[in-house]
Amino acid sequence: MELIYMDHAATAFHRPQCVADAVLDAMQHMGNAGRGAYAASLEASRVIYDCRVRLARLLGAEGPEQVAFTLNATMSLNLAIGGLFAAGDHIITTQMEHNSVLRPLYRLEQEGAALTILAADRLGRISLEELEHAFRENTRAVVCTHASNLTGNVNDLERIGALCRAHGAYLVVDASQSAGILPIDQARMGIDVLCFTGHKGLLGPQGSGGLCVRKGVSIRPLVVGGSGVQSESRMHPAQMPTALEAGTLNSHGIAGLRAALAWLEEQDTEALRREQQKRMWEFYDGVREIPGVTVYGDFADRACLRAPIVALNIRDWDSGQAADVLAQEYGIMTRAGAHCAPLMHEALGTREQGAVRFSFSHTNTAEEIKRAVCAVRELAGEGQEQKGQADI
Ligand code: ALA
Repeated sequence: MELIYMDHAATAFHRPQCVADAVLDAMQHMGNAGRGAYAASLEASRVIYDCRVRLARLLGAEGPEQVAFTLNATMSLNLAIGGLFAAGDHIITTQMEHNSVLRPLYRLEQEGAALTILAADRLGRISLEELEHAFRENTRAVVCTHASNLTGNVNDLERIGALCRAHGAYLVVDASQSAGILPIDQARMGIDVLCFTGHKGLLGPQGSGGLCVRKGVSIRPLVVGGSGVQSESRMHPAQMPTALEAGTLNSHGIAGLRAALAWLEEQDTEALRREQQKRMWEFYDGVREIPGVTVYGDFADRACLRAPIVALNIRDWDSGQAADVLAQEYGIMTRAGAHCAPLMHEALGTREQGAVRFSFSHTNTAEEIKRAVCAVRELAGEGQEQKGQADI
């Protein structure tokens, strides 16, 4: 059975060969950046700097020095949320968020910060009018996702950024599902801190990620220690990006991410995006009217870009069981369950059932989409028979 990967929102799978080649090459030839003046150490510094340059260019950051590396978006969000806010602050977030946003915020709430969570409707959308009314005197920030990891719905960051600026609040964005997939321009969108991971749409290795910080936004580091510079100082260096990086970086992973970014730059990214969107719509159109299938999210406007995700349930089947059957009998890899987004499930009414998430990339073919639609149709039909028998 030919396997079909449809879990790109969890991690990329078919990375360009140059990514793995770059990791291997880095492991065999690169020293530790900033720790020596010999060729191998300098090479590491060059590769890491070049990766910052490419990220800044792709994401619209103010410059390469404003891009700090972490291990993933969760770490970036923890760093931003824990390092910017304190007891007494008010922060606005949304029901669309992943636990990587919610849990650091809940912890902050326990420590004395106030939290407003904007409700999402049954289609998983938040209201910008409600957002406008949620600002208070002491609102320090809106922390929100660019695209939901469960529905694929996209937030209008430009408008949210404008509201934040009007109220003197920061905008901190979780771009886990959008970096490398949807256009992002940190400066134009008014994003103060943009948190990203390297292993999804950017096609880099797991363990690579970071955050782009607008100049003048000072984040208290989570971790301090060796930096390779100002070793005699008792304090960790304050200048970006070193301020937010301590210890040896995941330079091998960063080398892979750099190769992935170079590969992306060589592609017609508009064409890749069109391909991803096309696959998502083909799948959506194939499953949306199958009796017994419920699709979640806002698919009303075909002109709007979405994260290439379609989450659904088949009758009242447990989503985990449905995903297991898809994997075992059809060779289709999806993600099921709660997707680390408990509030989103509450809004969609899927707290108990979870949802089966199909997520696509430009590597999925039209043929794969057809097979996946057929599989869902068969399972929905099968479910109907089972239900019919149970009713008798
Ligand atoms: N956060 C990732 C997902 O949505 C892992 O699957």
